[in-house]
Amino acid sequence: MAFQKTLSILKPDATRRNITGKINAKIEASNLRIIAQKRLHLSIAQAQAFYAVHAERAFFGELCQFMTSGPVVVQVLEGEEAVAGYRDIMGATNPTNAAEGTIRSEFAESIEANSVHGSDSVENAVKEISFFFSELEIVG
Ligand code: CMP
Repeated sequence: MAFQKTLSILKPDATRRNITGKINAKIEASNLRIIAQKRLHLSIAQAQAFYAVHAERAFFGELCQFMTSGPVVVQVLEGEEAVAGYRDIMGATNPTNAAEGTIRSEFAESIEANSVHGSDSVENAVKEISFFFSELEIVG
């Protein structure tokens, strides 16, 4: 077991429907602790930079439009095996494939408006956390 940090984003469909607290209740009911948090309205340039790994994908333009369509809440989660653990409680990217009881199964509207993002590896978690947070803002 490894103690890890991961990046979480509560997406514009979650802030629009005022369900960030419900989502965070599920996060906090797991073994994860929210150790940094802020609400932002991303610019197109920021969304493009954050999702640069998907730049060649057909959905990149729509993804960046959606992620800038309203506020997001970015947060750092900490816990044992936080990267995989958060992905487990988020559920599959496409909510139709998300296991019962997961965040996306309960709350996501579509593959795009899927309520939450989580880092897919420890290496990417380090990069994604430093994209949004300075060390001073992370209080474990
Ligand atoms: P996320 O974990 O934030 O990483 C990239 C996002 O692209 C993904 O969640 C989805 O919300 C979004 N997306 C939109 N369309 C697709 C698609 N066809 N396949 C995969 N991801 C998609």
